[in-house]
Amino acid sequence: MQDTIRSQIQRSKVLGRREIARGLVVLKFQNSFVAEKAAPGQFVNVLPKIDFSDPFLRRPFSVYNTSGDSAEIIIQDHGRGTAILAATGIGEHLDILGPLGNPWKYNETTFETAILVIGGAGVASMPLLAKQLEKDNKLYAVYYGARNKSLFADEYLRKIEYSTDDGSKGFHGSVIENVRKDLNVGKYSKPKIFVCGPTGMMRSAILLANEFRIPCEVSLETEMACGIGICQGCPVETSIGEAESTGRKFHLVCTQGPSFAKEQIVL
Ligand SMILES: Cc1cc2nc3c(=O)[nH]c(=O)nc-3n(C[C@H](O)[C@H](O)[C@H](O)COP(=O)(O)OP(=O)(O)OC[C@H]3O[C@@H](n4cnc5c(N)ncnc54)[C@H](O)[C@@H]3O)c2cc1C
Ligand code: FES
Repeated sequence: MQDTIRSQIQRSKVLGRREIARGLVVLKFQNSFVAEKAAPGQFVNVLPKIDFSDPFLRRPFSVYNTSGDSAEIIIQDHGRGTAILAATGIGEHLDILGPLGNPWKYNETTFETAILVIGGAGVASMPLLAKQLEKDNKLYAVYYGARNKSLFADEYLRKIEYSTDDGSKGFHGSVIENVRKDLNVGKYSKPKIFVCGPTGMMRSAILLANEFRIPCEVSLETEMACGIGICQGCPVETSIGEAESTGRKFHLVCTQGPSFAKEQIVL
Protein backbone atom coordinates (compact mmCIF):
# COMPACT_ATOMS: atom_id res chain seq x y z
CA MET A 1 0.00 0.00 0.00
CA GLN A 2 2.84 2.40 0.87
CA ASP A 3 4.39 2.02 -2.59
CA THR A 4 1.05 2.57 -4.29
CA ILE A 5 0.41 5.72 -2.31
CA ARG A 6 3.94 6.99 -2.93
CA SER A 7 3.43 6.62 -6.68
CA GLN A 8 0.15 8.52 -6.35
CA ILE A 9 1.85 11.60 -4.87
CA GLN A 10 3.23 13.92 -7.53
CA ARG A 11 4.71 17.38 -7.53
CA SER A 12 2.62 18.97 -10.25
CA LYS A 13 3.39 22.17 -12.10
CA VAL A 14 0.47 24.55 -12.61
CA LEU A 15 0.08 25.11 -16.36
CA GLY A 16 -3.02 27.24 -16.42
CA ARG A 17 -5.40 29.23 -14.24
CA ARG A 18 -8.71 30.69 -15.33
CA GLU A 19 -11.88 31.96 -13.70
CA ILE A 20 -14.81 30.33 -15.48
CA ALA A 21 -17.69 31.62 -13.42
CA ARG A 22 -18.02 33.96 -10.49
CA GLY A 23 -15.90 32.52 -7.64
CA LEU A 24 -14.91 29.39 -9.59
CA VAL A 25 -11.26 29.02 -10.59
CA VAL A 26 -9.87 26.18 -12.71
CA LEU A 27 -6.28 25.07 -12.18
CA LYS A 28 -4.65 22.98 -14.88
CA PHE A 29 -1.60 21.02 -13.75
CA GLN A 30 0.88 18.61 -15.26
CA ASN A 31 0.35 15.12 -13.84
CA SER A 32 0.46 12.21 -16.25
CA PHE A 33 -0.54 9.73 -13.52
CA VAL A 34 -3.84 11.48 -12.76
CA ALA A 35 -4.43 12.23 -16.46
CA GLU A 36 -4.06 8.57 -17.34
CA LYS A 37 -5.73 6.90 -14.36
CA ALA A 38 -8.57 9.18 -13.23
CA ALA A 39 -12.04 7.74 -13.77
CA PRO A 40 -15.25 9.81 -13.66
CA GLY A 41 -16.10 10.68 -10.05
CA GLN A 42 -12.64 10.24 -8.57
CA PHE A 43 -10.84 13.02 -6.73
CA VAL A 44 -7.36 14.27 -5.88
CA ASN A 45 -6.17 15.42 -2.46
CA VAL A 46 -4.18 18.60 -2.83
CA LEU A 47 -1.70 20.32 -0.58
CA PRO A 48 -2.21 24.01 -1.31
CA LYS A 49 1.52 24.74 -1.43
CA ILE A 50 4.31 22.26 -1.94
CA ASP A 51 6.69 21.94 1.04
CA PHE A 52 4.30 24.13 2.96
CA SER A 53 2.89 23.26 6.37
CA ASP A 54 0.13 25.84 6.69
CA PRO A 55 -2.47 24.63 5.89
CA PHE A 56 -1.08 21.29 6.94
CA LEU A 57 -3.86 19.11 5.57
CA ARG A 58 -4.66 18.38 1.95
CA ARG A 59 -7.98 19.45 0.44
CA PRO A 60 -10.04 17.11 -1.82
CA PHE A 61 -11.20 18.15 -5.31
CA SER A 62 -12.94 16.15 -8.02
CA VAL A 63 -10.96 15.59 -11.19
CA TYR A 64 -12.71 18.06 -13.49
CA ASN A 65 -10.98 17.28 -16.77
CA THR A 66 -7.99 15.40 -18.18
CA SER A 67 -6.14 15.78 -21.45
CA GLY A 68 -2.71 14.56 -22.58
CA ASP A 69 -0.47 14.60 -19.50
CA SER A 70 -2.45 17.22 -17.61
CA ALA A 71 -5.52 17.37 -15.41
CA GLU A 72 -7.78 20.11 -14.05
CA ILE A 73 -9.57 20.85 -10.81
CA ILE A 74 -12.18 23.51 -10.19
CA ILE A 75 -12.00 25.47 -6.94
CA GLN A 76 -14.75 27.33 -5.18
CA ASP A 77 -13.43 29.76 -2.63
CA HIS A 78 -14.77 28.31 0.61
CA GLY A 79 -12.15 28.95 3.31
CA ARG A 80 -8.46 29.31 3.91
CA GLY A 81 -7.18 26.33 1.91
CA THR A 82 -9.30 26.99 -1.16
CA ALA A 83 -8.44 30.72 -1.08
CA ILE A 84 -4.71 29.87 -1.16
CA LEU A 85 -5.26 27.31 -3.91
CA ALA A 86 -7.40 29.59 -6.03
CA ALA A 87 -4.61 32.18 -5.95
CA THR A 88 -1.96 29.72 -7.21
CA GLY A 89 -0.06 31.13 -10.16
CA ILE A 90 1.10 29.51 -13.39
CA GLY A 91 4.51 27.89 -12.89
CA GLU A 92 3.96 27.23 -9.18
CA HIS A 93 3.74 23.61 -7.98
CA LEU A 94 1.04 21.69 -6.15
CA ASP A 95 1.47 18.47 -4.20
CA ILE A 96 -1.20 16.14 -5.60
CA LEU A 97 -2.27 12.77 -4.19
CA GLY A 98 -4.55 10.74 -6.40
CA PRO A 99 -6.66 9.76 -8.16
CA LEU A 100 -8.59 8.57 -5.09
CA GLY A 101 -12.04 7.21 -4.28
CA ASN A 102 -14.39 5.14 -6.38
CA PRO A 103 -15.75 6.15 -9.77
CA TRP A 104 -19.42 6.84 -10.44
CA LYS A 105 -21.20 3.56 -11.23
CA TYR A 106 -21.96 4.50 -14.82
CA ASN A 107 -21.55 1.09 -16.43
CA GLU A 108 -24.42 -0.69 -14.69
CA THR A 109 -27.00 -2.24 -16.97
CA THR A 110 -29.86 -1.27 -14.63
CA PHE A 111 -30.51 2.03 -16.43
CA GLU A 112 -30.75 3.33 -19.99
CA THR A 113 -30.57 7.10 -19.52
CA ALA A 114 -28.20 8.85 -17.13
CA ILE A 115 -29.61 12.07 -15.69
CA LEU A 116 -26.76 14.21 -14.39
CA VAL A 117 -28.09 16.64 -11.78
CA ILE A 118 -25.75 19.44 -10.78
CA GLY A 119 -25.88 22.18 -8.18
CA GLY A 120 -23.17 24.83 -7.88
CA ALA A 121 -19.56 23.59 -7.62
CA GLY A 122 -20.94 20.03 -7.77
CA VAL A 123 -20.32 20.40 -11.51
CA ALA A 124 -16.69 19.30 -11.08
CA SER A 125 -17.34 15.56 -11.12
CA MET A 126 -19.64 15.68 -14.16
CA PRO A 127 -17.61 16.47 -17.32
CA LEU A 128 -15.60 13.23 -17.14
CA LEU A 129 -18.82 11.31 -16.53
CA ALA A 130 -20.51 12.92 -19.55
CA LYS A 131 -17.43 12.22 -21.68
CA GLN A 132 -17.44 8.56 -20.63
CA LEU A 133 -21.18 8.16 -21.29
CA GLU A 134 -20.68 9.59 -24.78
CA LYS A 135 -17.78 7.23 -25.37
CA ASP A 136 -19.97 4.30 -24.27
CA ASN A 137 -22.85 5.48 -26.48
CA LYS A 138 -25.11 5.81 -23.44
CA LEU A 139 -28.07 8.19 -23.41
CA TYR A 140 -27.73 11.06 -20.97
CA ALA A 141 -29.15 14.47 -20.03
CA VAL A 142 -27.69 17.25 -17.89
CA TYR A 143 -29.72 19.36 -15.44
CA TYR A 144 -27.74 22.23 -13.99
CA GLY A 145 -29.08 24.63 -11.38
CA ALA A 146 -27.57 27.79 -9.92
CA ARG A 147 -28.70 30.90 -8.09
CA ASN A 148 -28.22 33.03 -11.22
CA LYS A 149 -26.78 32.80 -14.74
CA SER A 150 -23.31 34.13 -13.80
CA LEU A 151 -22.58 31.00 -11.75
CA PHE A 152 -22.64 28.29 -14.43
CA ALA A 153 -19.37 26.49 -15.15
CA ASP A 154 -20.56 24.73 -18.28
CA GLU A 155 -17.55 24.82 -20.61
CA TYR A 156 -17.23 21.01 -20.91
CA LEU A 157 -20.90 20.03 -20.86
CA ARG A 158 -23.48 19.74 -23.62
CA LYS A 159 -27.24 19.17 -23.74
CA ILE A 160 -27.79 21.23 -20.60
CA GLU A 161 -31.22 21.97 -19.13
CA TYR A 162 -30.48 25.12 -17.11
CA SER A 163 -32.41 26.37 -14.11
CA THR A 164 -31.88 29.45 -11.97
CA ASP A 165 -33.41 30.62 -8.71
CA ASP A 166 -33.86 34.16 -10.11
CA GLY A 167 -35.07 33.09 -13.58
CA SER A 168 -32.08 34.71 -15.35
CA LYS A 169 -31.44 31.54 -17.41
CA GLY A 170 -33.54 28.49 -18.26
CA PHE A 171 -36.24 27.14 -15.97
CA HIS A 172 -37.20 29.54 -13.18
CA GLY A 173 -36.96 27.42 -10.03
CA SER A 174 -34.98 24.56 -8.56
CA VAL A 175 -33.06 22.04 -10.61
CA ILE A 176 -35.04 19.27 -8.91
CA GLU A 177 -38.35 20.76 -10.07
CA ASN A 178 -36.93 20.96 -13.57
CA VAL A 179 -36.05 17.26 -13.52
CA ARG A 180 -39.46 16.42 -12.01
CA LYS A 181 -41.23 18.23 -14.86
CA ASP A 182 -39.52 15.98 -17.42
CA LEU A 183 -39.86 12.77 -15.41
CA ASN A 184 -43.58 13.50 -15.09
CA VAL A 185 -44.00 13.35 -18.86
CA GLY A 186 -41.89 10.21 -19.17
CA LYS A 187 -39.16 11.93 -21.18
CA TYR A 188 -36.49 9.33 -20.40
CA SER A 189 -36.36 5.55 -20.70
CA LYS A 190 -35.16 3.73 -17.54
CA PRO A 191 -33.43 6.76 -16.01
CA LYS A 192 -30.83 6.84 -13.24
CA ILE A 193 -29.96 10.06 -11.43
CA PHE A 194 -26.34 10.99 -10.72
CA VAL A 195 -26.27 14.00 -8.42
CA CYS A 196 -23.68 16.28 -6.88
CA GLY A 197 -24.35 19.60 -5.18
CA PRO A 198 -25.42 21.08 -1.86
CA THR A 199 -26.71 18.57 0.71
CA GLY A 200 -30.28 19.91 0.64
CA MET A 201 -30.43 19.52 -3.11
CA MET A 202 -29.08 15.96 -2.95
CA ARG A 203 -31.71 15.10 -0.33
CA SER A 204 -34.40 16.43 -2.68
CA ALA A 205 -32.92 14.39 -5.52
CA ILE A 206 -33.18 11.24 -3.39
CA LEU A 207 -36.83 12.01 -2.56
CA LEU A 208 -37.52 12.58 -6.25
CA ALA A 209 -35.85 9.29 -7.18
CA ASN A 210 -37.89 7.49 -4.51
CA GLU A 211 -41.09 9.08 -5.82
CA PHE A 212 -40.37 7.86 -9.36
CA ARG A 213 -38.78 4.58 -8.15
CA ILE A 214 -35.59 5.12 -10.07
CA PRO A 215 -31.97 4.58 -9.03
CA CYS A 216 -29.97 7.51 -7.73
CA GLU A 217 -26.31 7.90 -6.84
CA VAL A 218 -25.05 10.86 -4.83
CA SER A 219 -21.49 12.15 -4.59
CA LEU A 220 -20.66 13.52 -1.14
CA GLU A 221 -18.32 16.34 -0.20
CA THR A 222 -17.40 15.82 3.45
CA GLU A 223 -14.38 17.31 5.19
CA MET A 224 -11.33 15.12 4.71
CA ALA A 225 -7.76 14.90 5.87
CA CYS A 226 -5.75 11.89 4.65
CA GLY A 227 -8.07 10.89 1.77
CA ILE A 228 -6.87 7.28 1.97
CA GLY A 229 -8.77 5.66 4.81
CA ILE A 230 -6.29 6.17 7.64
CA CYS A 231 -7.47 9.10 9.77
CA GLN A 232 -11.18 8.10 9.97
CA GLY A 233 -11.95 11.78 9.43
CA CYS A 234 -14.63 11.53 6.73
CA PRO A 235 -17.44 9.32 8.07
CA VAL A 236 -20.93 9.41 6.64
CA GLU A 237 -23.86 7.65 8.28
CA THR A 238 -25.05 4.68 6.27
CA SER A 239 -27.77 2.08 6.37
CA ILE A 240 -25.34 -0.70 5.43
CA GLY A 241 -22.31 -2.25 7.09
CA GLU A 242 -21.47 -3.11 10.67
CA ALA A 243 -23.09 -1.14 13.47
CA GLU A 244 -20.96 0.64 16.08
CA SER A 245 -21.67 0.34 19.83
CA THR A 246 -24.20 3.19 19.39
CA GLY A 247 -26.12 1.10 16.86
CA ARG A 248 -25.25 3.51 14.06
CA LYS A 249 -23.36 2.54 10.90
CA PHE A 250 -20.74 4.57 9.07
CA HIS A 251 -18.68 4.46 5.88
CA LEU A 252 -15.63 6.50 4.93
CA VAL A 253 -16.29 8.89 2.07
CA CYS A 254 -12.66 8.83 0.87
CA THR A 255 -12.28 5.07 0.32
CA GLN A 256 -15.86 3.79 0.22
CA GLY A 257 -17.28 6.81 -1.63
CA PRO A 258 -17.37 9.57 -2.57
CA SER A 259 -20.49 8.36 -4.37
CA PHE A 260 -23.10 6.14 -2.79
CA ALA A 261 -26.40 4.66 -3.92
CA LYS A 262 -29.31 6.51 -2.30
CA GLU A 263 -30.28 3.42 -0.30
CA GLN A 264 -26.85 3.25 1.32
CA ILE A 265 -26.64 6.62 3.02
CA VAL A 266 -28.45 8.61 5.68
CA LEU A 267 -28.28 12.23 4.51
C1 LIG B 1 -14.67 14.07 -2.83
C2 LIG B 1 -14.71 15.57 -2.73
C3 LIG B 1 -14.66 16.32 -3.89
C4 LIG B 1 -14.69 17.70 -3.81
N1 LIG B 1 -14.61 18.40 -4.97
C5 LIG B 1 -14.59 19.75 -4.93
C6 LIG B 1 -14.43 20.49 -6.13
O1 LIG B 1 -14.31 19.92 -7.22
N2 LIG B 1 -14.39 21.84 -6.03
C7 LIG B 1 -14.52 22.48 -4.83
O2 LIG B 1 -14.48 23.72 -4.81
N3 LIG B 1 -14.67 21.80 -3.68
C8 LIG B 1 -14.70 20.46 -3.70
N4 LIG B 1 -14.82 19.76 -2.52
C9 LIG B 1 -14.94 20.52 -1.27
C10 LIG B 1 -13.58 21.07 -0.87
O3 LIG B 1 -12.69 20.01 -0.60
C11 LIG B 1 -13.71 21.95 0.38
O4 LIG B 1 -14.46 23.10 0.04
C12 LIG B 1 -12.35 22.36 0.89
O5 LIG B 1 -11.70 21.27 1.49
C13 LIG B 1 -12.48 23.47 1.90
O6 LIG B 1 -11.18 23.84 2.30
P1 LIG B 1 -10.90 25.25 2.94
O7 LIG B 1 -9.57 25.24 3.59
O8 LIG B 1 -11.13 26.32 1.95
O9 LIG B 1 -12.06 25.36 3.99
P2 LIG B 1 -11.97 25.29 5.55
O10 LIG B 1 -13.39 25.15 6.02
O11 LIG B 1 -11.17 26.42 6.05
O12 LIG B 1 -11.17 23.95 5.83
C14 LIG B 1 -11.72 22.69 5.61
C15 LIG B 1 -10.64 21.61 5.74
O13 LIG B 1 -9.70 22.01 6.72
C16 LIG B 1 -9.39 20.97 7.57
N5 LIG B 1 -9.94 21.33 8.88
C17 LIG B 1 -10.56 22.47 9.16
N6 LIG B 1 -10.89 22.49 10.43
C18 LIG B 1 -10.46 21.35 10.98
C19 LIG B 1 -10.51 20.80 12.27
N7 LIG B 1 -11.07 21.44 13.28
N8 LIG B 1 -9.98 19.57 12.46
C20 LIG B 1 -9.41 18.91 11.46
N9 LIG B 1 -9.35 19.38 10.21
C21 LIG B 1 -9.85 20.59 9.98
C22 LIG B 1 -9.98 19.75 6.99
O14 LIG B 1 -9.04 19.17 6.13
C23 LIG B 1 -11.13 20.27 6.21
O15 LIG B 1 -11.43 19.42 5.14
C24 LIG B 1 -14.80 18.36 -2.56
C25 LIG B 1 -14.87 17.61 -1.40
C26 LIG B 1 -14.82 16.23 -1.49
C27 LIG B 1 -14.87 15.40 -0.24
S1 FES C 1 -10.07 11.36 4.98
FE1 FES C 1 -8.88 10.13 6.31
S2 FES C 1 -10.13 8.34 6.44
FE2 FES C 1 -11.16 9.53 4.97
